[in-house]
Amino acid sequence: MSLDPYKLRLDFPILSQTLPNGKPLVYLDNGATSQKPLSVIHATNDYYTKENANIHRGVYYLSQHATELFERTRIKTSHFFQAQCAKAIIFTRGTTDAINLVAQTYGRVNVSEGDEIVLSVQEHHSNLVPWQMLAREKKAFLKFIPIQEDTTYNLSKLNEIITKRTKIIAISQMSNVTGTVHDLTKIIDRARQVGAKVLVDGAQAACHMPIHLVDLDVDFYAFSAHKMLGPTGVGVLFGKEEILEQMPPWLGGGDMIESVELESSTYAALPAKLEAGTPNIAGVIGFSHALDYLQKVGMKNIKDHERMLTEYALEGFRKIGGLNLYGTDDLDKRGGVISFTMDGIHPHDVGSILDEEGVAIRVGHHCCQPLMKQFQIPGTCRASFYFYNTKEDIDLLFQSIEKVKSIFGRVVRK
Ligand code: ALA
Repeated sequence: MSLDPYKLRLDFPILSQTLPNGKPLVYLDNGATSQKPLSVIHATNDYYTKENANIHRGVYYLSQHATELFERTRIKTSHFFQAQCAKAIIFTRGTTDAINLVAQTYGRVNVSEGDEIVLSVQEHHSNLVPWQMLAREKKAFLKFIPIQEDTTYNLSKLNEIITKRTKIIAISQMSNVTGTVHDLTKIIDRARQVGAKVLVDGAQAACHMPIHLVDLDVDFYAFSAHKMLGPTGVGVLFGKEEILEQMPPWLGGGDMIESVELESSTYAALPAKLEAGTPNIAGVIGFSHALDYLQKVGMKNIKDHERMLTEYALEGFRKIGGLNLYGTDDLDKRGGVISFTMDGIHPHDVGSILDEEGVAIRVGHHCCQPLMKQFQIPGTCRASFYFYNTKEDIDLLFQSIEKVKSIFGRVVRK
């Protein structure tokens, strides 16, 4: 069964809008955030209209109802991602928050002077900076898995990079710049040999393909709701229950305690221990409806549709001269993210001209400055797809790129 993007688009009002400049919106910045279907918009609206109350605190109907909606989302999330159990799902503010949580709790307890933290050279800043901060505090070392020419991880020196001193390996499953989807098996196997823990940044992967957390056998997996139809300000940290149990809390405050004295406290059981303060209740309830929507469409269908779009886009890009493409040609190893540069034209100029045509892409370093340095470029233009994108969207992208070429051609000839 395949999906019908034309039918599904009708659930996303934003996609049929005309922009102030009179152009219809062509939304190709799904790597930054996805659009939201009506069911998610209505769910958050309904919460504030009819259901608003704080959770885990009230004996009255509204509070208990909100608590039930919130906790049911935790169970739904654990089923959707085939996690060990609902207690292994911690709601955070996003991927960045989830990674910082692990660095500041598991990391601060388990990383000592001289230990090693292994990352890759293509990580998003949110999976670099928290580890740099931890390494500096602990006098630990950062080591990096390089990438090959085709932008997949280069694992030829894996045994030298991941050693008995490695305490944690934090790597992304799919690059937000090149769309490369990495096979993590060898890295996880090596981690097991040396007793290191593995955190996977799934921000770009979780929204585009089926994820089976128990099979993947990672210790931590982090992702954001807003890239998968949900509201902003909600993320998920999956952690193996036995590891989360051992971790001290990060933020202290309401909801994460068992009992509090003036001078000391004891902490609540999982998951409350790691969720201090009032969470984004409306966001989590909205996320529940996002998961329902994705379930209905089917993650395998989403992956297949994006593969078709990526193939179509790559073929078209190759026909347009003067473009440099980043990422592998192997469609089995990439998702629907295409970074490109145009000879002699700054990505920001490309982005601005595309914007005039209603085409929304992201330009710049994509929060991956070290990768840009490796590519020896200031930034790229990035088109990123979701299941509601169509071949017509990509044709409009191509037409806009031709316009960029003609404008800059004229400038050069003057
Ligand atoms: N990490 C998001 C992106 O790549 C924001 O655009």
